[in-house]
Amino acid sequence: MTQSQNPHTPTNEQDEHLSETSANVITLIALAVVTAVVGILYFLAQVVSSNAMAQTRAAQMEEQIVERLRPVAGFEMGASSKGPKTGEEVYNSLCTACHAAGVAGAPKMGDAGAWGARIAQGQATLFKHAIEGFTGKTGVMPAKGGNPALSDLEVERAVVFMTNKSGGSLAEPAAPAADGAAPADGKAAPAAGAAAPAADPAKK
Ligand code: HEC
Repeated sequence: MTQSQNPHTPTNEQDEHLSETSANVITLIALAVVTAVVGILYFLAQVVSSNAMAQTRAAQMEEQIVERLRPVAGFEMGASSKGPKTGEEVYNSLCTACHAAGVAGAPKMGDAGAWGARIAQGQATLFKHAIEGFTGKTGVMPAKGGNPALSDLEVERAVVFMTNKSGGSLAEPAAPAADGAAPADGKAAPAAGAAAPAADPAKK
């Protein structure tokens, strides 16, 4: 057997090797720490910015609702001279803001599942909740949908319109003989005659 001699002098080489290795280890640890810190900062930044985004979105949504409701208030003056609006008109001008898409916990029109238990409460309760407002399990239904200028009759008609498209079969509320909703402004006099259109076909 040939004797292979280790050409290296073990002590020095090993020391060098060792110190090189530990320098590497330290570098690696330092890198790992930096990476971790950067990662955490990045993560925090994400969380903060997504929160900010969610808030912006909520604010935008609120603005949109207000925006949608605004025309109604202006529109009301003219409309009252034409007599009570139909349920569909009221729905389209106001209730749709929440009930079309189910905003803020509102039961969607057409979603029989969401309406079933509500309709089962009976017409009187539905009318009361829509007219006086109502805080339930899913959100807040504002009184008259947020437009106090609507008459009770108009709100009731809207309830009937909406629930009957959502699995209900409520009877159209009777239009009161002549005056009904019209707060008799004096100015609005000419309209009174036109006020009671043949809303009756539904009845009897
Ligand atoms: C700003 C949003 C909003 C508008 C506008 C709105 N609603 Fe609602 N409505 C709600 C919410 C939210 C609920 C569900 C409340 C709950 O049960 O927690 C609700 C529930 C109802 C209910 C069911 C009440 C019950 O007893 O379960 C009726 C009926 C109703 N709305 C009618 C109307 C009518 C009619 C209009 C238009 C004149 C209207 N809503 C406009 C938000 C709205």
